[in-house]
Amino acid sequence: MGFRTLEWRDGALWLLDQRKLPGQVEEVRVRSASEAAQAILEMVVRGAPAIGCAAAYGLALAAREAAQAADPERAFLAAVEELRGARPTAVNLRWAIERLARKRAALLQAGGSHAAVADALLEEAHQVLAEDLAACRAIGKNGADLVPDGSGILTHCNAGGLATSGYGTALGIVRAALGSGKKCAVYADETRPWLQGARLTAWELLQDGIPVTLLPDVAAASLLASGKVGCVVVGADRIARNGDTANKVGTYPLALAANAAGVPFFVAAPISTVDLRAATGREIPIEERGAEEVTHLAGARIAAEGVRVFNPAFDVTPARLITAIVTERGVARPPYEQALRALSLTDQAHAG
Ligand code: MRU
Repeated sequence: MGFRTLEWRDGALWLLDQRKLPGQVEEVRVRSASEAAQAILEMVVRGAPAIGCAAAYGLALAAREAAQAADPERAFLAAVEELRGARPTAVNLRWAIERLARKRAALLQAGGSHAAVADALLEEAHQVLAEDLAACRAIGKNGADLVPDGSGILTHCNAGGLATSGYGTALGIVRAALGSGKKCAVYADETRPWLQGARLTAWELLQDGIPVTLLPDVAAASLLASGKVGCVVVGADRIARNGDTANKVGTYPLALAANAAGVPFFVAAPISTVDLRAATGREIPIEERGAEEVTHLAGARIAAEGVRVFNPAFDVTPARLITAIVTERGVARPPYEQALRALSLTDQAHAG
């Protein structure tokens, strides 16, 4: 892939600015935990796994700041709270925060100095990034076999290299399926209102030389009914233990349409996106974003002044509409609770 979504360089975190793609390819330098939280909030970096990676670096920066603070504990906790509140739905944020906070507590308890702990947390953030990339590749491999040869793959939002440390989850499956020689046309929903499909997925795939057809979200049902699509593959922001899946708004209607057309509907996500603490999708917090994402297009007002807006960033697809959940540790099939618990077993972060 010809781009880096996030990279640690010269003592800072560098993020590819996803607000500006595809028009401008620019990076933003993040030098503090607070800047990391702001970048996540403003969607300079987005996509659940990439948010988790950025949060991990944010906490490494917090540990560095804490080492210089008069009250290190207080400074670190303030950074944790700011990062935690940046975006509520992607559970990878909580997962990364808890992982790094646990590591810090253990090192301090063992007598480590604040400076040494800060160095160790930076190493841990590098590890989170490396593990994410490995997970994406494994998801791609595990999912490629599920993709029917010779028909279309439809995806929603951007669950690609831009939403992860690289390669992607849903787009990882697309890459692996095509790489294995399957002949599949790729279709991408534009993904109103933030247009992740139009602005990011189309750009990312074309960067890799993968042809892609863009469609308005409202055309997905008729595309599915036409028989041109062999499967739908989407990412996830949080998967409850019964398999209910929160992902970019528009995923639920896509799953309904796929179900009506008899097209398999696959969710691709790393185990860090599975939230065993949430029994069902009803327990997943859904972020609501600003009205201007709907009333404006590229900065220009398109809706009447004074209109009220409903703008949830995510929706929940019930488990019954999901054919399989592809993780780096294997493919979960219904009933999901048993399968997801088994796949998560070795991950203590989710045992709560
Ligand atoms: O609001 P976003 O762009 O962060 O939403 C992203 C999605 O919904 C993705 O599908 C999800 O995070 C999975 S990314 C591998």
